[in-house]
Amino acid sequence: MTATAGFRTLVSAELDELERRLRDVGRGAHPTFAATVAHLFGSPGKMLRPTLVLLSARFGPSYRDAKIVDLAESLELVHTASLVHDDIIDGSLMRRNQATVNARWGDEVAVISGDYLFAKAYALAAVLPKPEVISLVAQTVFALCDGELKEITGEPRVPTEREYLERIELKTASLYAACCQGAAMLADADAEIVATLGSFGTNFGLAFQIADDVLDLDGDDETLGKHVGQDLERGMLTLPMIYALDELGPVVGRRFLAARKSSEETRDLLKDVRRTSGIDRARERAGHFRSLALAVLETLPDQPERDALAEITYFATERER
Ligand code: FPP
Ligand code: MG
Repeated sequence: MTATAGFRTLVSAELDELERRLRDVGRGAHPTFAATVAHLFGSPGKMLRPTLVLLSARFGPSYRDAKIVDLAESLELVHTASLVHDDIIDGSLMRRNQATVNARWGDEVAVISGDYLFAKAYALAAVLPKPEVISLVAQTVFALCDGELKEITGEPRVPTEREYLERIELKTASLYAACCQGAAMLADADAEIVATLGSFGTNFGLAFQIADDVLDLDGDDETLGKHVGQDLERGMLTLPMIYALDELGPVVGRRFLAARKSSEETRDLLKDVRRTSGIDRARERAGHFRSLALAVLETLPDQPERDALAEITYFATERER
């Protein structure tokens, strides 16, 4: 991600400030937390969530208020905390082309660093001037936890498409919806605009996560910045795999579901998935949610931020990392 990416331009000053603030989150804290913060925010991620907060706020009259950047920081911290914990759960060793916190410092430090980040996020949210936005942040964290718990405690069987969509709505789309809706609320946008941006965020999030799940099967490690094939290796069935099994049948389905596979087994099964139409069908499904997100945008006032939101929607679903 570069500072010149089109959809960032309108809010680049706030994003630059936010990146500085994120690098500073560990200041004055325990040196190990300061080190994990430096590691995590030394090379910022795509900053999609803060960008959505800042753009969505522009649909309300109070978009210049400093509290908007506080919300953007809070939600990016929730996201980062959830990734730190998710990498422990997944046993992932690499993210954004660098070692995960658990790989570098161990699971114990990673748990506490995630907790610390989450507390920092909530400290920012707690002093926002609207209780309904504070409540939205809390509800979103419940949704993330519910989605993650569904993922790790589900029965070992092939999920239906509906079950898959429910899970990704909780673990991913809820946070995108909160970014858009919360920002509009905080900026005193009309209730109709708040609801529209919430719906945009949900459809954006569904498209984003399906694209993410396609990349896990069809990307390459270096471009993606993390190990490809992890969902399959862990027996975590995603939409392209669910579709692939329509062609591969239940015997292969049982092999997909095995929780710990050898790298040879994962490689063989990846080849099987890639031979089916599962990946293309999942891309089409991501395209469907992208179209819904774009259609919702059309009902917003015609202003440059609306075009930027459309652009970020294309970026999120066509990205290679
Ligand atoms: C990444 O998904 C993980 C999430 C979207 C949510 C994780 C949520 C939690 C761990 C619970 C909430 C915790 C806190 C502290 C707020 P993925 O595994 O599909 O993506 P990946 O391939 O990038 O890991
Ligand atoms: Mg993961």
